[in-house]
Amino acid sequence: MSTKQPIRVAVTGAAGQIGYSLLFPIAAGHVFGPDQPVILQLLELPVALNAVEGVRMELEDGAFELLADVVTTSDSSVGFGDADVALLVGSKPRGPGMERADLIRENGPIFIGQGKAIDANANPNVKVVVVGNPCNTNCLIAQAQAKRTNPRNYTAMTRLDQNRAMSQLANKAGCDVADISRLAIWGNHSPTMYPDYTNALIGGKPLTDVITDHEWLDGPFIKTVQQRGRAIIDARGKSSAASAAWAAIKHTRDWHRPTPDGEWVSMAVTSDGSYDIPEGLIYSFPCTVDSSGRYEIVQGVELDSKARARADASAAELVSERDAVADLI
Ligand code: NAD
Ligand code: LMR
Repeated sequence: MSTKQPIRVAVTGAAGQIGYSLLFPIAAGHVFGPDQPVILQLLELPVALNAVEGVRMELEDGAFELLADVVTTSDSSVGFGDADVALLVGSKPRGPGMERADLIRENGPIFIGQGKAIDANANPNVKVVVVGNPCNTNCLIAQAQAKRTNPRNYTAMTRLDQNRAMSQLANKAGCDVADISRLAIWGNHSPTMYPDYTNALIGGKPLTDVITDHEWLDGPFIKTVQQRGRAIIDARGKSSAASAAWAAIKHTRDWHRPTPDGEWVSMAVTSDGSYDIPEGLIYSFPCTVDSSGRYEIVQGVELDSKARARADASAAELVSERDAVADLI
């Protein structure tokens, strides 16, 4: 066992679909590295405590060398106690015929209580990743409770959208996903999100030099990424889970290591007014992370007029979501 101090990772909704897929890679070292012990603090509703106890038993049965402890609880002060990382998954998923924003009145209030509990109990520099939908606005609600914790460290997940976009592009170009860089998601995790292919590279060359089917890029590509969550619900009868968990793993891992040179990671973070996106929105931008684990919004990305309109439309949607929860923030 490593001599490093364990990282405390709080996971809400740990007995749910995403939780089930998320915990084992964390315990295996895929997020914080092969010599970093972790303590998992699993927060669930009282009704799901039995189920989460079963998950705890399975984690034990994995005999993970890096898993220093597993705590299961429905007490948020215990769940978030001294947490260094908080993965906020616990909330209701949408069903067929719903948009993610339809969940806000039901899921939004969860993030008031959890935001307060994080602020009261977690490490002041806790890194928060909101997965529960609508994740950008739920993140805003949780962040609004931050008095002691660092508000800059409240983020929402658009990594699944980045991953989806990269796979679509790699299939079209007939290249490896690893050849694609600088594919950025702008905006909300919703059908207004903008997967910006215009600044992406394939093997270091402009993507648009390699994929010359501009009609496809502007039409079916963008639409597929924007509507992928719905397509999965239609096919599976349930919302994405393993791919969402994997995206949460990559979001968290990439916030704990320097971004490789020339790459960007998409994270929904607090707008500081960059690109004229209204300040304070939780908006997905291309980001890089430095060696101290601090992210920065990439500056100087060129957005052509179509891209600009799309980025603005997603910001406008987030403004209206923010207005709709004005009583919660
Ligand atoms: P699920 O229903 O399988 O699991 C949710 C779990 O959360 C359940 O075990 C439930 O008991 C628990 N829970 C509910 N309220 C809680 C609370 N207040 N505190 C602690 N636990 C609570 O759902 P899922 O498929 O795991 O999805 C979870 C959320 O993630 C949904 O809102 C879904 O829409 C969202 N999601 C987001 C993305 C993304 O890319 N941002 C991707 C997929 C799913
Ligand atoms: C997704 O993008 O798969 C998730 O946000 C689930 C959903 O409701 O689409």
